[in-house]
Amino acid sequence: MNLTIIDDNSTNLALLEEISKIAFPSENIKLFSNPIEALEESLNTLPDLILIDFMMPGLDGIEFVKKFRTKQNTKEIPIIMITASMETDVKQRALGVGVTDFLNKPLDVNELKARLSNLAELRKSHLKLKNLNQWLSDEVLKATETILKREEELIFRLSKAAEYRDPETGGHIQRMAHYSRLIAIKLGLDDLKVESIFKAAPMHDIGKMGIPDSILLKPGVLDEFEFSIMKTHAMIGYNILQGSNSSLLQVGAEIAISHHEKWNGTGYPNHLKQNAIPKTGRIVAVADVFDALTSERPYKKAWDIDRAKNHLIELKGIHFDPDCVDAFLSSWDEVLEIKSKFRDDSQDIYSI
Ligand code: C2E
Ligand code: SIN
Ligand code: SIN
Ligand code: FE
Ligand code: FE
Repeated sequence: MNLTIIDDNSTNLALLEEISKIAFPSENIKLFSNPIEALEESLNTLPDLILIDFMMPGLDGIEFVKKFRTKQNTKEIPIIMITASMETDVKQRALGVGVTDFLNKPLDVNELKARLSNLAELRKSHLKLKNLNQWLSDEVLKATETILKREEELIFRLSKAAEYRDPETGGHIQRMAHYSRLIAIKLGLDDLKVESIFKAAPMHDIGKMGIPDSILLKPGVLDEFEFSIMKTHAMIGYNILQGSNSSLLQVGAEIAISHHEKWNGTGYPNHLKQNAIPKTGRIVAVADVFDALTSERPYKKAWDIDRAKNHLIELKGIHFDPDCVDAFLSSWDEVLEIKSKFRDDSQDIYSI
């Protein structure tokens, strides 16, 4: 610990130093007879304890403390002031500017020793606590990061599990997540929302796990009954994801249940209209359908990209939120980039 002693009287200074060496476990004692120099130095190095005389030419003890305490990180540094006078007025003012404790002249050596070692203990436990707090908040931060990473990994693995049953490829999942992010950014959503849509969108069809193979993998067009079963994937996905404390899973649940709603109210499962459909669902609907159209499915060939684009334009304001379609089409260069970057034969970017 570092101790600073300030006294214009050199005899006092030497005496204070001698006693301090015994009572205060310091690696470093700095002595000043000039309070102005002492102030500058103390503000730079922030000692662990300051012993200061009250009556000094140039800058008295109270002025020193007043100036010292206005600077940051000086509040917890104890300051002992040595006063010759018994004037309560001086002590009052000194306490007012932030003096911690007093010693009276003439100095009582035993009292000084006792005060010094008490304050040393106080300062030590204060520093320990400060370190502990720092350590704790570092640990909390680390733990939070770990939890978020785990959460993302679990979500990714859950999506992977679904892929084993679903003919849709990892490429679809990545493209539609990136398209969704693109739309969310263009709509001006805040960064946190954009990221949660990006991370939750891959779970939109997780409910297809609950659809029998005879329907899920049917190479032809579904009949009415089969399609009614297929439609339950939105609700199944919601049931899998809902009720979590994780905001990512909450967004995932919202997307799962709303990604097949249509702007004009003819979608499923709840026939919601326009702004009654969660924005996340309206965003994902555009991204998902565009990618479904431009991909091959067991029941259809891939459409060429202009046909898919025209489909979005034709159904803008019917199936799709017009703002989401506009946002998507105004990012056309990025759309093409994503489409070519995450081709179905390209490597998994997550590749755990
Ligand atoms: P999906 O293949 O991921 O398709 C998602 C959505 O993209 C569809 O939702 C639909 O809005 C759009 N879409 C996909 N392909 C076409 C298409 O050829 N023409 C048009 N106009 N739109 C298309 P939807 O219709 O609610 O279907 C949900 C899921 O049901 C589909 O997900 C797919 O897994 C399944 N599905 C739909 N129709 C058939 C079908 O005829 N045969 C089979 N085997 N599965 C189907
Ligand atoms: C898929 O539907 O292809 C994967 C399942 C999911 O991520 O929702
Ligand atoms: C459709 O198959 O639903 C419409 C075809 C198209 O928009 O080109
Ligand atoms: Fe779906
Ligand atoms: Fe999909």
